[in-house]
Amino acid sequence: MEELQGGRKGQIFRSNTMIYRPRGKWSETIHCLLSHIAKRGFHAAPQPYGFDGKGNEMLSYIDGDVFNYPLKGRIATTQALTSAAKLLRLYHDASSSFLSKYSNETLAWPLPSREPMEVVCHGDYAPYNVSLSGSETVGIIDFDTAHPAPRVWDIAYAVYCWAPFKTHEYDAMGNIESQSIRAKQFCDAYGLLDVDRRVLVKAMTDRIQALVDHMHNEASNGNQAFIENIEDGHHLAYRADIQYVKIHEPYITNILLGESVYNK
Ligand SMILES: Nc1ncnc2c1ncn2[C@@H]1O[C@H](COP(=O)(O)OP(=O)(O)O)[C@@H](O)[C@H]1O
Ligand SMILES: [Mg+2]
Repeated sequence: MEELQGGRKGQIFRSNTMIYRPRGKWSETIHCLLSHIAKRGFHAAPQPYGFDGKGNEMLSYIDGDVFNYPLKGRIATTQALTSAAKLLRLYHDASSSFLSKYSNETLAWPLPSREPMEVVCHGDYAPYNVSLSGSETVGIIDFDTAHPAPRVWDIAYAVYCWAPFKTHEYDAMGNIESQSIRAKQFCDAYGLLDVDRRVLVKAMTDRIQALVDHMHNEASNGNQAFIENIEDGHHLAYRADIQYVKIHEPYITNILLGESVYNK
């Protein structure tokens, strides 16, 4: 068994073509979702292989290279960004029929659902949760924050992470102009409607706030990972990012609604 880096320490392992990750209360729902999207022709996510009886879920290994912040090299290219957006669109479209097939009451999700439940959001569609072949985004991993919600809810968080509208010196890249252009390129490649673009910045601040609230809730329930996140000041970085995005809301929205910059 080989321990994998880039996620929780000492908890994610690979043996040949199989990945072993800690099982959650929601893992059966996620496995059902992963089978469903594969049947609908979406093959860029792991295949589920059940549970090992030692507290782990088993998933197929997705080929490709995985990166993390700071965004440098292939993961920072326009190609990685726009192919990630197109892949998210295909995933969302494949996920929507899952919600009509199963009643939401029978499903256990890691995060609360939000109306209107258009798709199953990935919930953490950041550069560290995709795999690349060259500079092309070809795989999606880590569905442990998936939950039904509007498309724009997932895109808001993805754009926040990919633009990236992050102010911490470790995660930051570019300036408000280049970040807004990347945000628009993501929306163009996804095919996001203007009606959603108008509310995207508000959805972004709501989504980051929901994450901060979730961190505090989990920490007060004794979740060690979130207790450490708060000790390390992650919630302060998110709050600073909310302020940054709020200040620039008119500018970002204007760019999002402007002429296409896709392929530039
Ligand atoms: N199905 C998979 N295929 C390929 N690599 C994977 C897969 N699942 C996880 N990994 C690798 O393991 C690392 C951590 O996995 P991840 O599931 O994101 O952990 P966490 O849930 O702790 O964030 C990823 O960065 C990636 O390199
Ligand atoms: Mg991860």
